[in-house]
Amino acid sequence: MTDPVTLSLSKGPSSKDDLYGAASPAALYDEVCENYRRYVNPPLGRVMKLSGSPVEVRAQGCTITDHTGKTYLDFAGGYGVFTLGHRHPRVVAAVRDQLDRIALSGRTMFNPLMGRLAARLAALTPGDLAISFFANSGTEAVEGALKLARAATHRAAIVATDAAFHGKTLGALSASGRDAFRDPFAPLLADVRRVPFGDADALRGAVDDTVAAVIVEPVQGEGGVHVPPEGYLRAVRAVCDAAGAVMIADEVQTGLGRCGALFACDRDGVVPDVMTLAKGLSGGVVPIGAYVARPSVWNAAYGKAPLLHTSTFGGNELACAAALAALDVLQDEGLVENARARGAQLLDGARALQARYPGVIADARGAGLLVGVELRSEGYGGTIIPELLKRGVTAAWTLNQQRVIRLEPPLVVTADEVDTALRALDGALAAAFDTLGTLA
Ligand SMILES: Cc1ncc(COP(=O)(O)O)c(C=O)c1O
Repeated sequence: MTDPVTLSLSKGPSSKDDLYGAASPAALYDEVCENYRRYVNPPLGRVMKLSGSPVEVRAQGCTITDHTGKTYLDFAGGYGVFTLGHRHPRVVAAVRDQLDRIALSGRTMFNPLMGRLAARLAALTPGDLAISFFANSGTEAVEGALKLARAATHRAAIVATDAAFHGKTLGALSASGRDAFRDPFAPLLADVRRVPFGDADALRGAVDDTVAAVIVEPVQGEGGVHVPPEGYLRAVRAVCDAAGAVMIADEVQTGLGRCGALFACDRDGVVPDVMTLAKGLSGGVVPIGAYVARPSVWNAAYGKAPLLHTSTFGGNELACAAALAALDVLQDEGLVENARARGAQLLDGARALQARYPGVIADARGAGLLVGVELRSEGYGGTIIPELLKRGVTAAWTLNQQRVIRLEPPLVVTADEVDTALRALDGALAAAFDTLGTLA
């Protein structure tokens, strides 16, 4: 088996094609840093430069190639986007094919692929979830679900969980659980009640007949990868039923195989009233977001007002062609099963590393290929992630809990690739411990 660092060195520098017209790798790097500094996001550009972030120029499967030709195993996985890896050939072919017909919907006529994708989601999602709305991102899917719940119930309050992440548009942000992201934009939605994730009793205390929706991630991702106790989602369902509130399962990150089941709700055998999807839905090739709702809820909201919530680009033919192909690949290649098997291997490996570095790792947990490694101090992460990058593996923080490094590779990852990433993590942990000693 070839170590990714060795592999990258053997490939040499990027070809001219991969330099986007720049004269050399260094010229491309300087150009990108300068553009970020001046035109994209100056402080972020500075931080990325300081932390040694390379420029991505090409990607295939589980591998990203940078501007120098070095390759990386992608264990950040676009925070869940690349379920099929990068540029799965069947998804790319479907999108290319569609480009030759119609790319974006004219919106004045029926869109055949949007209808087909909605029918496919109705067949795949649990219970009687059936009516889909399409948008372009996870936060838009959540925004649509929150509006749907409010219009269906004529109620305003939302109940959400501590440390949740639902996106950064105003409604989704209101339901998200990190003050640092919310406070600069206050006041947000007025009546959002927050309860600890996984605590059914706290939820019972917060939900009454003024609540439009309870929104919950079936496995909390950006909050630090938390798997709720068995039965929690069933309890959420029961609380919503008792109060007449809409249960929204935010499966933007957990859906479509990520957690070792087609939907993470399936782990508890629960049918929500609305499910949100995005990230992996279109196979990592064209952005998409969606919610799928029970007809009773959708009709209560929009049965007489079909244009109350719309999106110009949502459900465009390119995204739908990508999603239809991605769903085929997910099933044909047995990726849900692979997520279970490789997820168990990755979690076992992470737990073995916890036993070897008990001063650095406090916990390793996860479901399927969403694995969180909780460090004893945030201080370690600033070393471990760059050390991993040096060793040819990408990983990332969870957004709302910076002591947790998430390992979220494509569901097509192989056993050898998981072993390679674990070896790199071992080396990165040793380097962090050598440099920093005991921080906790
Ligand atoms: C559970 C969940 N919901 C919503 C979102 C927002 O998705 P997007 O970044 O596509 O807006 C995310 C993003 O990480 C997420 O994890």
